[in-house]
This record gives sequence, C-alpha cells and structure tokens, in this order.
Amino acid sequence: MAITYEEALKRLEANGQGHLLRFWNSLSDVQRKVLLAQIEGLDFESLARMKAMIASGVAAKSLDDIEPAEVVPLSSAKEPKAVLAGEESIKKGAVGVILVAGGQGSRLGYEGPKGCYNIGPVSNASLFEIHSRKILGLEQKYQAKIPFYIMTSLANDQATRDFFSQNNYFGLSKDRVLFFVQGMWPAVDKDGKVILDAKDHLFMSPDGHGGILAALRERGMLDDMKNRKIETLFYFQVDNPLIEIAEPAFIGLHRLNNADISVKVCAKRDPDEGLGVVVIQNGRNSVVEYSELTKEQKHARLPDGELKFKYGSVAIHVFSLNFLVRESGAQLPLHVAHKKVPCCADDGNQVKPDKPNAYKFEKFIFDVIPDAATPLNVEFAREEEFSPVKNAEGSDSPITTRRDMTRKFCRWFESIGISVPRNNDGEPLHKIEIDPCFALGADDLRRKVAKDFKINADIFLK
Ligand code: UD1
Repeated sequence: MAITYEEALKRLEANGQGHLLRFWNSLSDVQRKVLLAQIEGLDFESLARMKAMIASGVAAKSLDDIEPAEVVPLSSAKEPKAVLAGEESIKKGAVGVILVAGGQGSRLGYEGPKGCYNIGPVSNASLFEIHSRKILGLEQKYQAKIPFYIMTSLANDQATRDFFSQNNYFGLSKDRVLFFVQGMWPAVDKDGKVILDAKDHLFMSPDGHGGILAALRERGMLDDMKNRKIETLFYFQVDNPLIEIAEPAFIGLHRLNNADISVKVCAKRDPDEGLGVVVIQNGRNSVVEYSELTKEQKHARLPDGELKFKYGSVAIHVFSLNFLVRESGAQLPLHVAHKKVPCCADDGNQVKPDKPNAYKFEKFIFDVIPDAATPLNVEFAREEEFSPVKNAEGSDSPITTRRDMTRKFCRWFESIGISVPRNNDGEPLHKIEIDPCFALGADDLRRKVAKDFKINADIFLK
C-alpha cells in the first residue's frame, strides 16, 4: 500500500519539507499518486546530512596533510606470475565485471544512455557493444563464464535494457547480463529544502557512482555474486572503449596481494587534467577528486621536477567481493555541487534559473578506499587503456577516442611485424578496428592473421 497524504504530510513536516505538498489541492488523482510515490522514496537521513553540510558552509574536508600514495610501477605491473594468477581466477569463473552507466553524460550532449553512443572507428559499434564483446572475447578465450553487472539509473534504465535486448546482448548469454538501478537524490536549496520542478514532481538525479554500494545490496546483486561463486570484481566506467576489461595481470596482482581494492593509475597529462589523484592521508590511501585540490596542490613539483600528485585514478578498479560486502552499508561522504536546477514558482509554473540555485549531492565509489586494509595502486600505460569520450569536441571527444583506438590497433599490428602505412605526422593512413572476439591483444592477433597481411584500406577484423 502506498503512503497516504496524511502520512506523507506528517513525515515531511517532521523533516522541514512540508512545502512539497503545497500544490496538493490543484493536483489530479494521478499527479497525487506520482508525488506521494516520490515522497515515500525520500531518504530523510541523507537529507539531514545535506542540510547540515550546507549550514556548515559546504566546507570540504581538509587536505593540508596529503602526500602522494605508493604506486606499483608499470615495469612490475605485468609480471608473468600475476598474469597466471589472473587467468586462473577467470578460468575458474571467480571473476565478474561491473560497469557503472547510470550517469547522464551531459557534457557530451548526447540524449540517451551514453553506452549507446557509436564509437567504433570503422564498425561504428556502440560503447556497450565494444564492452560486451570484450567480455565475450574473454569468455571464449578462457572457456569461462563472466557475469556482467550493469548499474543504470531511473533516467536510463529502460533504454539501456531495451538496447541490450534489441541487440541480442551482443552475443553474451542473457542470464549473465544483470542490470540494477542506483538510487536517486533530490536537489535542495540553501535552506536544505527539497526542490519541486513541477507542482507534482521533485527534481531528482542519480546519487553518484558511490550509490553502487547500496544498490548492489538492495537489488540482490551481492547475493547473486555469492551464488555464482564470484570472488573478484573488475569495475569500470562506460565512456572508455580502450578499457582492458578484467585484464589478467591486474586481476592477478590484486589476488597475489590479497588486496581489498586495486586502483589503476596513470601519470596526469598536465596539472589541470580532470583526474582524481591517489594520495595518503593519516596513513590511509585515498583518491582526491581534481575539483577538491587547490591550485598549489595541482601544480606542486618534487625536487626532480615531477608533479608531486602525478598519478591520477581513471576509475578502473578491482574489488574483492568480501570487501564490497563489508562496505555495502558504509556511509560515504557527500560531495556537493552548486547547480542550476529548474524549479516550480509559487504560481505553479516552472522557472529555469540563470544562476545556480540548488545543491546537488553525490557519493563517490573511491571514498571506500580509506577503509581498505590492503589497497593497491597499479600504474598503466594511458595510450593502451584510457581514452574516454567525455566532451563533444576537443580533448576526450569522439575524434580523439576513435583516433586512439586506431593507434592502439596499429601498434598491435606493428608489434607482430605487419607494417602500417603512416602519413608524415606518423598517423596511420587508414582506420583500423579489431573486434574483441577476433583478438583481445597482439598475441591473439598473431595467431589469427597471415604474416604477409597487408593494410591498404580501412579495415575491421571480426
Ligand atoms: C570521473 C572521475 C574522475 C576520473 C574520471 C576518469 C568522479 C567524480 N570522477 O570523472 O576521478 O579520473 O572519471 O574518466 O568519479 N555514474 C553513474 N552514476 C552516477 C554518476 C556517474 O553510474 O550517479 C557513472 C557514469 O555513467 C560514468 C562514470 O560514473 O560511467 C563517471 O561519471 P562522470 O560524470 O563521467 O565522471 P567524470 O567527471 O568524467
């Protein structure tokens, strides 16, 4: 039974949110139902934390005492015994994959789930297709079953499910593709009051990728993982088609170190690049988001001229299932942003503000790192594994991502002795793409193509 008007009013008034029912008398029965359902889902405990944070001047935690964290260098990241340990785990079916895809992709200006965006330089395959085919490629290579857990939000859940279903799960077995929805949070004004964007509707947005902890637990995913005897989870973000999903060496290093969480890091391109950096504070590892560092911290240099906070996290992680279970009830810190949010004026019409009028809050998954008994930071080569689609133009845009995909496949060819025609700037003359089920790396490619293979046009190997 849904909540009644009287019950809703009581709860709201007890929490200083009675204004949410101020248009009640002018609403139809259907509108009333929708509004009551939203009110019923409100998380008053988090709202109280939000209000307290605004009241205290939204001061971020002090970062005066941070130092750079230790990092396993690239030269040690691919040791054969780590590769073997990772392959072993994959083969015995103890590895699962988590994709966070609940975000709104507003910077790219693409309507719809970002994973549906077409990025394959020749195939035009979507991000979701490329990720799924990598998992299928691993399943085929290791004769293994790898469940794929995809976090969506209410804003894109149905569209995401439909996309997978219309595309026959890109060849994956449907019973190993599991969607789960993250939580939504309201936005609040300077007094901590929840914002209505219409007479009958609260403005809501996803609660951040840190919402995954609660979502995994509440949507039964942790139980599903236990039932499938999963021990290790590879975690990544939707926007990066260069990702090396469940790369055996990374899984293996995590396992050999008995780590709770492992974090892939790379050297920042420049001091202002928008990557969270890996640090130590009070003896605990953590990631500090770029927007929370001071200018001095971003630009600080060591005596040898290197950036002090040089290593950025690109949100590629490995978790032990035990750690996720342990953390699933953790109260993560809140991160706040002052934003323009449409709101309902006293006459019931929507107003689009021209300056920030609301606080939006999010939880970040990397805030679990300080709780880890054994965290591990592992360096990777950016050009091999990271080229996200974030902006419509310029850096980290579709053009740079497609270029980086072609460059990577060219390096595979050249490493096996097949030459790639290049222009005077050293860029490949042709676009090149390789389906992950054809080859997951240069070694697979060597086994599949003839020694005299010629590249004289755009190619897509599948
Ligand atoms: C993020 C990281 C940054 C990292 C960079 C690498 C944060 C706050 N910042 O920045 O440290 O260096 O990626 O690319 O994480 N998502 C959800 N639910 C949400 C919000 C986001 O599932 O509520 C997902 C998105 O779908 C996406 C990922 O999380 O897959 C990252 O979100 P995005 O907003 O693109 O983060 P960035 O600001 O690019």
